[in-house]
Amino acid sequence: MHTKIPSRTTFFISAAAAVIIIEVLILGIFSPSSSSEQASAAIELVDARWLVRYQDRAAEIAKLQKEIRELKEKYAKCNNVNDEEAIVKELFDAVNPAKLLQLSTKFNGTYASAQPFPHIAIDDLFPSSIIEKIIGEHPESILKDGCIPGTERCYDSPEENKKSSINTDERMGTYTRILFSFLKSSTFTKFLEDLSGISNLLPDPHFHGSGLHFTASGGSLDIHADFNRHPDNNLDRRVNVFIYLNDDWPEEYGGHLELWSKDMQSCYQRIQPKLGRFVVFSSTDFSYHGHPEPIQAPDGRARRSIALYYYTNGRPSDECLDNDCSGQGHSDTFFKSLWDVKSVLMIPAGKTIQSGSPVWLAI
Ligand SMILES: *[C@@H]1O[C@H](CO)[C@@H](O)[C@H](O)[C@H]1NC(C)=O
Repeated sequence: MHTKIPSRTTFFISAAAAVIIIEVLILGIFSPSSSSEQASAAIELVDARWLVRYQDRAAEIAKLQKEIRELKEKYAKCNNVNDEEAIVKELFDAVNPAKLLQLSTKFNGTYASAQPFPHIAIDDLFPSSIIEKIIGEHPESILKDGCIPGTERCYDSPEENKKSSINTDERMGTYTRILFSFLKSSTFTKFLEDLSGISNLLPDPHFHGSGLHFTASGGSLDIHADFNRHPDNNLDRRVNVFIYLNDDWPEEYGGHLELWSKDMQSCYQRIQPKLGRFVVFSSTDFSYHGHPEPIQAPDGRARRSIALYYYTNGRPSDECLDNDCSGQGHSDTFFKSLWDVKSVLMIPAGKTIQSGSPVWLAI
């Protein structure tokens, strides 16, 4: 009998410690916002009970308290990862100049020979940590009635509808601004130059036509060629970059980016706009693209993407209609308008998918 007392006491202490450790783990893992406060409140409460009950066991209790403190610290670290610093570091590690050079060296030929015009799609180029933050900063619900409050950019024409954009820095979340800063950096611009073979690219710091794009369910963007000149500086638009932000976006929701041939007879590519997918293509008077079918997602969902365009001073004449790049710039030229004029074209935009050689990479 006499010998059982210490072991029972040990058992109680161990049980109490296990309860505390489990509490620390639960509070630490599942309540990230105020977890450390809750954990310390719980521990102090239990500590006080212990001290009364097991006064003669002060040394053991002190040892357990120390272990608990260490656990608290460990889990506090997990919960309070200095997000911003860690995520930025992860971004810069993932897309460091050496890695980007490897990618462009390996795939510049693939890009150049892609049909119907130079392009490439790469999944998970950017770490999911920053992509997740960006979608959190701009939930689909901000696209109220097809228009993001506070932005003048709301499109509702037959060619481009239920679409809105955020195109000023101060309306973007922190991580979005960080990613855009990277997209405008020398490192990334050089990567695009190496990949596309186009020298002296300049990113547009003012987001003309770019930024964050949202298109509500039912919305669409007809097949078109992009506006070709920047209205402020007259530079020539050469490269388009998109990063898609659609988590939980099954194939049947649609909104695929379609790439059509110069003669508008064939759709060569349908690129699902799924989360983290990076698409880059060269923009000319003939790089016909869009997502012409209405998005089939449930109400309240929206197709989201990041867009940034790159320019040069001048361009090769074979990128312009009639080999003439000397005229005034033009705005987005929608294929449906061309279709109305040129009745010789027999296939409506977005209706026929023909073969092509898909250019697809998963890295
Ligand atoms: C790809 O890059 C390499 C190295 O810069 C270059 O020698 C080659 O000509 C490029 N290929 C194409 C198709 O641009």
